Amino acid sequence: MQIQGKAAMVVGGASGMARATAEMLREAGADVAILDLPQSAGAEVAAGMGATFHPCDVMDADSVDTAFASAMDTLGALHIAVNTAGGGIAMRTISKKGPHPIDEFRRVIEFSLVATFNLNRLQAWHMRENEPEDGERGVIIDTASVAAFEGQIGQVAYTAAKAGVAAMMLPMARDLGTLGIRSVAIAPSLFETGLTSLAPPEMQAELTRDNAFPRRMGKPEEYAQLALAIVRNPMLNGSCIRLDAGVRFAPK
Ligand SMILES: NC(=O)c1ccc[n+]([C@@H]2O[C@H](COP(=O)([O-])OP(=O)(O)OC[C@H]3O[C@@H](n4cnc5c(N)ncnc54)[C@H](O)[C@@H]3O)[C@@H](O)[C@H]2O)c1
Repeated sequence: MQIQGKAAMVVGGASGMARATAEMLREAGADVAILDLPQSAGAEVAAGMGATFHPCDVMDADSVDTAFASAMDTLGALHIAVNTAGGGIAMRTISKKGPHPIDEFRRVIEFSLVATFNLNRLQAWHMRENEPEDGERGVIIDTASVAAFEGQIGQVAYTAAKAGVAAMMLPMARDLGTLGIRSVAIAPSLFETGLTSLAPPEMQAELTRDNAFPRRMGKPEEYAQLALAIVRNPMLNGSCIRLDAGVRFAPK
């Protein structure tokens, strides 16, 4: 899909990988709506790149509906969706304190998997209205993690959620294929965003020592480059692409 003149929604776009993607989409000529938490830097970040900001908490379906309505008002259509809001906790299946609290497990699944699917179903619903371009109406990009494939000790909930994101790309692509809507996930290894960017250099070196090459954290722009490549290449569909410098995580 050509990016120039298209409409994009970037969820989590106030920071990190989604922010870099929003910027790159703007540079490539797309209209961009950023959805992020009300207390995020979304308004300022959006204004800085000529995008619009629509506050929401992806865990709250009503606030997502409101933000969608407002984003669709300004965009007029939706061709490209990028979703990064998500995250996990460090908690083992059992610990000295007892079994993994089930509510904590549910919360991670809600945040990283259910909230992502909630966005996807709404995004696809709007994309179906587009006039097709070479048969194509839209592309959805979700964010998994290499933890989807090699979850480490304490990542049982996060891995379950991110594996769910990776696994749903194929059935979603099949569900939406007749409409010309694609779905692809990106599975980053460690990227320099939020908390990870605050790690001192020695810790960053330790955390990335098993990378084949390069032995450093990924940069938000490198996620953005892949996201734009996915938008442009119609053969990418129904899969989860690792963006990981050749690392395979050890148990811890
Ligand atoms: N950074 C890494 O090393 C790494 C590695 C693998 C996967 N991931 C995944 O990437 C995503 C995080 O992206 P990032 O690393 O660019 O982090 P980031 O913290 O820079 O950006 C995340 C954005 O999501 C927003 N957000 C958080 N909770 C939200 C909510 N409930 N509703 C709406 N917006 C919300 C935040 O305000 C923030 O702007 C997560 O899904 C995470 O699992 C990150």
